[in-house]
Amino acid sequence: MKVLLIGAGGREHALGWKLALSPRVTELHSLPGNPGLAELGPVIEGIEPTDSAAVADVARFGGFDLVVVGPEAPLAAGVVDALSRLGIPVFGPTAAAARLESSKSHAKDVMSAAGVPHAESATFTDPKSAWSQIEQSDGPYVVKADGLAAGKGVLVTDDRGEARRWVERWIGVGPVVVEEHLDGPEVSVIAVCTATGAQPLAPARDYKRRDNGDLGPNTGGMGAYSPVDLPSGLVEQVMTGVITPVLDEMEHRGLGFRGFLYAGLVLTTAGFRVLELNVRLGDPEAEVILPRLASDLVDVMEGETPRWSAMTAVDVVLTAHGYPDSPMTGAVIEGVDAPGDDVHVFHAGTSLSEGRLVVAGGRVLNVVGLGEDLARARARAYKTAGRIHWPGVHYRTDIATT
Ligand code: AMP
Ligand code: GLY
Repeated sequence: MKVLLIGAGGREHALGWKLALSPRVTELHSLPGNPGLAELGPVIEGIEPTDSAAVADVARFGGFDLVVVGPEAPLAAGVVDALSRLGIPVFGPTAAAARLESSKSHAKDVMSAAGVPHAESATFTDPKSAWSQIEQSDGPYVVKADGLAAGKGVLVTDDRGEARRWVERWIGVGPVVVEEHLDGPEVSVIAVCTATGAQPLAPARDYKRRDNGDLGPNTGGMGAYSPVDLPSGLVEQVMTGVITPVLDEMEHRGLGFRGFLYAGLVLTTAGFRVLELNVRLGDPEAEVILPRLASDLVDVMEGETPRWSAMTAVDVVLTAHGYPDSPMTGAVIEGVDAPGDDVHVFHAGTSLSEGRLVVAGGRVLNVVGLGEDLARARARAYKTAGRIHWPGVHYRTDIATT
């Protein structure tokens, strides 16, 4: 089977690596890909992943048997719709179904209708009403851009002035959501949703803040590990309490959902609450989930129950100086070769310049260690991370310790 993978990040490198292991996949092309994916097959340059018509043309004229979409932006732009109109098999939700992620207020509406416990919130288009909502609470304050912001539109703060400034910063872009603050450990549960039903993937935990001790700004994700030690039965409860009712509600609205459905949860003392729904694999969750998947990913995307390796995976994300606000690109990356057994280096913001690997984005590399337990997986990831260098490289040193 000839497979086209859409996307260019660490999640897509992990997806491409796993797809390439499938005996059913004879060719893997990626669009636009990255230097890591280029080692697995041809990369298609010069086409925007969000240009649905152009992506559909590539798939048609290239004779692809399956298209897998990694990130949210092409899903929200209707790539799945364009491919489906041509009868090309594709794994991912339609644009209408992808609004679960591209509009937080829509997601809340679906969750309320489906009886899914989630963070209470109000959506504002006028800054004064948002401010008065903020003034009614003692904090911490949670303020979010309503639309897609690559994980950077969220502020959680004790500082009321900062919350007000965040409203000002994002209200020009679109509506702003002011949300109740939830307290407790977080976990990501992702389900594979096919025509035959939904199957959970192994749970993962990601680290959103840039700096050690969960300090600094929110980012797209600084690290992750899987599996997560959870209260017994929790994943099943998330399937019956979140995934199934959301899928049923979507079906009821004529928005049948196919693809990866991601529930970001907080485990509060009163039970779990959904913080966000995403319509794709998490990044960096995918980088720790896929290396542990013992099944063929193509079979799983067709509805087979996933089987798991007993190993634990830990991902440490290496970022550029200045991430997330203004990452400094162009630095030459040293030390990526030969990571050794039980370590994967998945590329995200890299490119090749005159034959050298250089920094080309905020999140640059994912170093994933596998081990018999969390401590060994962690040690392997950090050993390799410590050998990789460029001026200004930054990573957290406390991934999978707290
Ligand atoms: P989101 O992109 O909406 O998942 O938010 C990013 C991160 O901000 C989450 O993983 C949480 O760590 C934090 N966060 C978001 N919303 C809340 C909330 N209502 N209460 C507490 N923390 C939150
Ligand atoms: N790691 C969080 C996300 O992918 O949204």
